[in-house]
Amino acid sequence: MKVLIADDNPNDRYILRLILTARGCEVREAENGRLALAEALASPPDLIVSDALMPEMDGFRFLREVKRHQVLMRIPFIFYSAVYTGDNEEKLARSLGAEAFIVKPMDPEELWHEIERLLAAGKSAPSPAVTGEEAYLKEYSNIVVRKLEEKVRELEELYLTLTRVLVTTLDAKSPWTKGHSVRVAEYAVRAAVAAGFDVGKINRIKLACLLHDIGKIGTYDFLLDKPERLNNEEFAVVKLHPDKGVEIISEIKQFSDIIPAIRHHHEWFDGCGYPTGLAGDSIPLHARLISIADSYDAMTADRPYRRAIDRDSAFRELRRCSGSQFDPRLVEDFIRAGTGDRCY
Ligand SMILES: [Fe+2]
Repeated sequence: MKVLIADDNPNDRYILRLILTARGCEVREAENGRLALAEALASPPDLIVSDALMPEMDGFRFLREVKRHQVLMRIPFIFYSAVYTGDNEEKLARSLGAEAFIVKPMDPEELWHEIERLLAAGKSAPSPAVTGEEAYLKEYSNIVVRKLEEKVRELEELYLTLTRVLVTTLDAKSPWTKGHSVRVAEYAVRAAVAAGFDVGKINRIKLACLLHDIGKIGTYDFLLDKPERLNNEEFAVVKLHPDKGVEIISEIKQFSDIIPAIRHHHEWFDGCGYPTGLAGDSIPLHARLISIADSYDAMTADRPYRRAIDRDSAFRELRRCSGSQFDPRLVEDFIRAGTGDRCY
């Protein structure tokens, strides 16, 4: 039996393929309704199994097209959905002509039971005429909006949790770096507000600060904990952490815009920093700001090899290095913002 699967999730397609090929089916796959429709028209399958939410053409529209098409309308159509929102979705799918409706996670036995039932019933009867185009669209929009809201919430939660886990993992590396990223984020956010950045930019600066030293996960603990200053060889190893950080986060699409900030947070305004020796405005803005907040926290927190200095001494040091290590304009924004204890 030839089965066509339409699903945008490669893992779900893979599992479905395993279930179906184990029973001797010949399987083809498409990642959205539009491609699935083209596949079905090119070579009509014996059965279609389709997800609901897909980009470009969702499962409902795909189902509607199949059941309207002379060549395809008799092909049994199994509709399945990841998030069950009451019986509205099933009613809608059935009103559009779906012969079966399954809620994810799909039970292989249930799927196979439905397939056997459909095969025993013979070729599907032509679908009922779809009435009330507007009613369909309204119902469909409600379902999609609900699902999208749910997905956005889930993604945001996952994304924040992932950031927290990464920061906690880094904090656990060394008592000397514990809390550093969170403090750097607080200082940089204050300075960004003082500099008049918009909220979107400030949120990305905060995220970049939280993850700026994430590459230190790959740096040997004894270098982070060393009670004396690092020698040249040891410093050369530590200098790899911006690029290691980029390597760690580059797999995550949502972090792609903060990569330049992470890679260049140790560049100097005069071009004497690392890893690339960029200078002036060619250093990404967020990286220039992180550099100041990072150094401020390094100066005002105890280190294994020296004691912390007070706030005003640290501000003086920032001004002394303004124009060489730091962007002079941002140093003034940073100092103007102050560094009280309030968290943003
Ligand atoms: Fe760093």
